[in-house]
Amino acid sequence: MNDASDKTDAYAHAKHDLAVYKTLETDELIARISAVREQMGDRLLILGHHYQQDEVVAHTDLRGDSYQLSQMAASSEACRAIVFCGVHFMAETADLLANRPESLESRGGERVRVILPDMAAGCSMADMAAIAQVEAAWEDMGEVIDTERVIPVTYINSAASLKAFCGKHGGIVCTSSNAQAVLEWAFERGDRVFFFPDQHLGRNTALKMGITEQQMPVWDPYALECGGNEEQALQDSRVILWKGHCSVHQMFRPEHVAQFREQHPGIKILVHPECPREVNDLADVSGSTGLIIRTVQESPPGTKWAIGTELHLVNRLKAEHPEQEIHFLSPVVCMCATMYRIDLPHLCWALENLRDGTPVNTIEVSEEVTKWSLVALERMLAVH
Ligand code: 13P
Ligand code: SF4
Repeated sequence: MNDASDKTDAYAHAKHDLAVYKTLETDELIARISAVREQMGDRLLILGHHYQQDEVVAHTDLRGDSYQLSQMAASSEACRAIVFCGVHFMAETADLLANRPESLESRGGERVRVILPDMAAGCSMADMAAIAQVEAAWEDMGEVIDTERVIPVTYINSAASLKAFCGKHGGIVCTSSNAQAVLEWAFERGDRVFFFPDQHLGRNTALKMGITEQQMPVWDPYALECGGNEEQALQDSRVILWKGHCSVHQMFRPEHVAQFREQHPGIKILVHPECPREVNDLADVSGSTGLIIRTVQESPPGTKWAIGTELHLVNRLKAEHPEQEIHFLSPVVCMCATMYRIDLPHLCWALENLRDGTPVNTIEVSEEVTKWSLVALERMLAVH
């Protein structure tokens, strides 16, 4: 959905018009957002991912990486509405976890409403694997290998339907902070892993576990046969990687690492594991956004860093840690355009409609998909 459609019938029920919010001054938006937060008290929880813009982060109750945000949604007790400043798959996950059967029961059946302030805030990587493609791949690979012994693992950056696929087929969800533990869990239950949608997180994690590149064929959903692989390659595989990637992290290159090492002796390279292997292999530290933040926080003054992850997080770390020397690993701007869609006008619009009884942009996973995606998510929460 784009801005133009924000004003169509989809919002005919809304009391407040988004177009008006886009004309408001920042000070007024801040005052109105703060007023809703005060009026709604602990019935409202605003969650934010680390890639959000500073002016949005300022209004969040809690901030975290994907795993931490899942935990926060799962343990929310007092709140009756979560406004999620992040992207679509995160809001879906929050809806699933905040409305688990036991939580619903303890609230007398009352659902926690989850709201994504802008429906266009998606994740291009998550969009690289559609459920029909994954099901077709599963069927095709079943002609060559025994899928009973394949454990499907989906990165949390995926639609709920893919999580449900994993739940149904004995599989699990992982995040960037628990990918290795999840792969170990999977190998205790099967001979191979089918990992989607991010080939880089899958590859970088499996390499750390001693699995070789040759044992990791890449499944191209657009190839005509066997995902573009020889049958033998699938038979010899340990991890079958989906041909998906993050367009933001793909922009970090090994030559950027070489340049920093040459120009700043002693500098440390800190990256997110969604970066390609050639970059990840050269890094001193690789991990989730939460780990990136902790690593900087725990380092002594004067430490020099070149960080390869989304620009807003790196800029925030720079501002919060003037005692360290922090650089952005790429010479070009690598920012997540969809995370950036959440801004003060959308946040204020979503909050005031929620307060006034005309909620917009509710994310609710269908009943059919909920059951099995929760199974896969619960397995993940139990592993970490
Ligand atoms: P984290 O789980 O590390 O926060 O990553 C989420 C994400 O989308 C990174 O691109
Ligand atoms: Fe998706 Fe990449 Fe944006 Fe993360 S940074 S939300 S993986 S597009």
